[in-house]
Amino acid sequence: MNKNTMKQLSFNIKTFGCQMNERDSEIMAQLLAEKGYVESIDIEDSDVVILNTCSIRAKAEQKAMSLLGALRKAKKRRPGMKICVAGCVAQQEGEELCERMPHVDLVIGTQNIYELTELLEATRGTSKVAISMSDAYEIPAFIPVLPKLLQGKELPPPFPARPFRKFLTIMQGCNNYCTYCVVPYTRGREISRKVEDIINEAHVLVDAGIHEITLLGQNVNSYGRTNPVTTDGSEYSFSLLLREVAAIPGLKRLRFTTSNPKDLSPELMRCFNEIEILCPQFHLPVQSGSNAVLSKMNRKYTRELYLQRVEELRSFRPDIALSTDVIVGFPGETDANFEQTMELLEHVRFHSSFSFKYSDRPGTRSADFDDKVDELVKSQRLARFQKRQDEICLEQNSLYVGKNLPVMIEKVTEDGMVGRTETNHIVHIEEKIECLPGDIVHIAINHAGQHSLNGGISSTPATYNK
Ligand code: 5AD
Ligand code: SF4
Repeated sequence: MNKNTMKQLSFNIKTFGCQMNERDSEIMAQLLAEKGYVESIDIEDSDVVILNTCSIRAKAEQKAMSLLGALRKAKKRRPGMKICVAGCVAQQEGEELCERMPHVDLVIGTQNIYELTELLEATRGTSKVAISMSDAYEIPAFIPVLPKLLQGKELPPPFPARPFRKFLTIMQGCNNYCTYCVVPYTRGREISRKVEDIINEAHVLVDAGIHEITLLGQNVNSYGRTNPVTTDGSEYSFSLLLREVAAIPGLKRLRFTTSNPKDLSPELMRCFNEIEILCPQFHLPVQSGSNAVLSKMNRKYTRELYLQRVEELRSFRPDIALSTDVIVGFPGETDANFEQTMELLEHVRFHSSFSFKYSDRPGTRSADFDDKVDELVKSQRLARFQKRQDEICLEQNSLYVGKNLPVMIEKVTEDGMVGRTETNHIVHIEEKIECLPGDIVHIAINHAGQHSLNGGISSTPATYNK
């Protein structure tokens, strides 16, 4: 076929789960775009469909599986369509998934995404390809940033006109083995990337116009502890990495996620006071307010230690916005145990939280615990927790009314702009000025909702300082 008449192949990636998956999807999009694929908006009309799945909770897995089931019809209509399952479900189920879902062409483990285009090629002419976790895994030294993806303009939505923030993976895997958690089995052992590779990638991002970077890892506090990350083998730490990335000229905001309270060091807490561009926002999953439950979860900290860390963090940075994850109805959780979680919520007053009913995950230790909590009790506990958290969100957000906050603009709409505060609150702005996504504008907050703020453009600089 003549090159001009050859149809460009299209792809569509659906992402479930965490920011690790979002970043992995971005890498897969990048790899496909490099091979000439174009992104398509309509999943049913795509030549390559990738479901980047999550298995952290039963519900997350079901969501991906029901979309996968629905794709059976589309594949019947267009047999040439390649259906690929990536992410944590793919990692756990491997070849079995192909057997269960015969319309799947490729199952690709979490650590094999870099081979995506070769593996897709291998599915041509054959019926199935399944590939799982490689043991001798290393994160590639440098994950190239495709200029097209950074410019954005050349790609159709959902890529924004001008990307201004990016995730940067600093480590993968997890060695903590919380008894409920599937991650060590889906993402493998903890491994930290080399400092040099991270800094190089950060420079490439900033040079390309990225204003905000979020450093990503399952447990960023233990960065550099399980393998050497410096060229001369010298000791290194996450707080040093934060300082090095923050020093890159042109970077306006720095964030990171996620942390385990047990590893939270005073050096890291000090960073919130000393690094100007480190945003005062901290996601610190507590999971439960009961020591008995925390111990059965193998979290390796107590409620008292958690509360002490919160106090210390607030002494370093009083305006820090804390968020958390909570599991209700863990096996053996009594009414009294749950009350302790409610008390902890009352005490800390998180700016926001993600709360879930415990669900058994295959292969985890807690799946074999025998004192499971009744579904109805779990639902009642979850509803109570979420109701109180919603009230606290509103109370906390109301404290911003009357303040002038620096807001990074994300998009300009027909009737205004939308942006984010340093504390990661979404702000709806009822006016417009000439600006681009990634620019920082001072906004006078005039209204607080449970999940977002409203405001207008302020002529005076920010009043909400450390
Ligand atoms: N059941 C319910 N929630 C879970 N999480 C992790 N595993 C489970 C499970 N088996 C929650 C934790 C974690 C968040 C990402 O998901 O709160 O921090
Ligand atoms: Fe889901 Fe955890 Fe996998 Fe992220 S690492 S996709 S949260 S199971």
